[in-house]
Amino acid sequence: MLAENLKVLLASANSLSIKAQNFHWNVEGPDFPQYHKYLQKFYEEVYSAVDKVAEYIRTLDSYAPGSLTRYAELTIIQDQLKIPRAELMLAELYEDNVKMIELLNHCFASASEENKQGIVNFIAERLDAHEKHSWQLKSILKKARA
Ligand SMILES: [Fe+2]
Repeated sequence: MLAENLKVLLASANSLSIKAQNFHWNVEGPDFPQYHKYLQKFYEEVYSAVDKVAEYIRTLDSYAPGSLTRYAELTIIQDQLKIPRAELMLAELYEDNVKMIELLNHCFASASEENKQGIVNFIAERLDAHEKHSWQLKSILKKARA
């Protein structure tokens, strides 16, 4: 059901944004300035979808979850309680981003099924944004040639 899928998307986008902000604050190493800046761009971009997802849930006549307890129940993004090394942070976000793309594809199918073209369009844009994140994270993680 689309509204239920969007609730998972809302919780997951929120969790991913919070995780990336945590990494933005705590990342360390010689490439600190780039990582710090990149992580800010990432968490802000992911967070930019949150309000729209919640409002789409309301247009489907369902209530938008807005509590940390509900987000913890709904999210597909695993919480990170430690401070990993910079490269591990980025590798973790890459894996999380793959999960977001899978989830968005699932939401896309369910929005199409329910004939909600506006939501289909929005989800397509989110897929585009997360595919861009994939490309950028993969490029940062690529080892320099010897
Ligand atoms: Fe900051």
